Amino acid sequence: MPPPHLRLAWALEAIPTDAVPESRAARTTMTDSTTTAAAAAAPTAPGECALALDRSHVFHSWSAQASLAPLAIAGAAGCEVWDFDGRRYLDFSSQLVNTNIGHAHPKVVAAIQEQAALLATVAPAHANLTRGEAARRILEKAGGAFEKVFFTNGGADANENAMRLARLVTGRDTILSHYRSYHGNTGAAVVATGDWRRAPNQYARGHVHFFGPFPYRSEFWSSSPEEESERALHHLERVVQAEGPSTIAAILVEGVPGTAGVLVPPPGYLAGLRAIADRYGILLIVDEVMSGFGRTGDWFSWQSPRINPEGVVPDLVTFAKGVNSGYVPVGGVLIPPAIAHAFDERVFPGGLTYSGPPLAAASIVASIDAMESEGIVANAARVGRYVLGPGLAALAERHPLIGEVRGLGVFWALDLVVDRATREPVPAATIGALKAELLARGLLPFTADNRIHVVPPCIVTDEEVERALAIYDEAFAAVEAG
Ligand SMILES: Cc1ncc(COP(=O)(O)O)c(C=O)c1O
Repeated sequence: MPPPHLRLAWALEAIPTDAVPESRAARTTMTDSTTTAAAAAAPTAPGECALALDRSHVFHSWSAQASLAPLAIAGAAGCEVWDFDGRRYLDFSSQLVNTNIGHAHPKVVAAIQEQAALLATVAPAHANLTRGEAARRILEKAGGAFEKVFFTNGGADANENAMRLARLVTGRDTILSHYRSYHGNTGAAVVATGDWRRAPNQYARGHVHFFGPFPYRSEFWSSSPEEESERALHHLERVVQAEGPSTIAAILVEGVPGTAGVLVPPPGYLAGLRAIADRYGILLIVDEVMSGFGRTGDWFSWQSPRINPEGVVPDLVTFAKGVNSGYVPVGGVLIPPAIAHAFDERVFPGGLTYSGPPLAAASIVASIDAMESEGIVANAARVGRYVLGPGLAALAERHPLIGEVRGLGVFWALDLVVDRATREPVPAATIGALKAELLARGLLPFTADNRIHVVPPCIVTDEEVERALAIYDEAFAAVEAG
């Protein structure tokens, strides 16, 4: 196979003159002696071209476009990515917390290649063997309470359709969800979202928010996780009563609120949600888009003995990301028999061109099979308990910037503070400085608000964790030294 810079030759030719600094334009239009000098300054290196094309033609998510300086990633394998200069980074972001099986897993890559050659796509109306196999495997991992899968393009439309199902079967409108949450960037999902991304996008109706438990930054003046859980549940029940229980279709929560800060639910919270939902005839939707498929050391976070020792089961579950590590975009909703059969005679008013296309389905089958046979979910649990969790706790002992370490599996957050006593969050500049120090030392971090989320792939080895911990240690020391 040719080296990356040769494979990119077509891309260099395709760059329009207005996409690059003026020297490139000059090369094609000028004929005098300045041409050679100008051409020498044109971005011909693949990394520079990637950046030039990106800055000229790619419109980025959730960003003011002018100030972006994205890292151009050329390739990846396992827990590492590399840029066009061959500089390697430990990927402790798992991109958007989705490459649970690591980058370029050979079995998943081969399954995608084989399926692409056989049948890449079919209309959703057709039966397809690979899609059926994917659904069967996902349902097996969910443990018997669910009968069918409705496949979507990703996590947002999985939530969109779960909310639609809940509204249709209950005949009610309102969806309750946490303020500290992210559920995706489509009509209802972004309004179910509680964080800042909801505010400019509130076009959907029928959404009400409430505060979930967060012992470190409690809204409830609690002094223990148990008390936090109890008081958060009391608050929710009062919201249900104030809104009118007969108007509420569903309570939608992330299994572990992820982007909001890896807020592992305290004891009794999930069981308490289940009880409130049952008391008022409300459906409980658990969004496992980020928390599912190994991230917490379980197939689904609601199966975690720590989160759900009572063993309660949600009514609907949404998934995406880790189901195939994002090699092909896909998501879906797990539907129990009672809800699935409500649409035996009645038309389900929803659908997508890409509803479990074979290419995505093949990547799911290969991914789940590899995660199973290689013990990848168990690895995430073990690493979290014995290596990453203790390592981050030791890091916090050395660095006063770290106010709290919380998480499980390969799903952790470092909540950074100016002062441990007041718990005042660090300013954005501190996060920016840390990010730069981490990148300079070869670690690709995930940052959100005042936090570093430590979220490597579930395949991460002890040695990679030790290497990353040393990098975090040095980076914190550098920032603390000012
Ligand atoms: C919990 C949760 N739900 C839903 C989504 C949206 O998924 P997608 O971006 O695939 O639409 C995300 C994405 O980060 C998420 O973390």
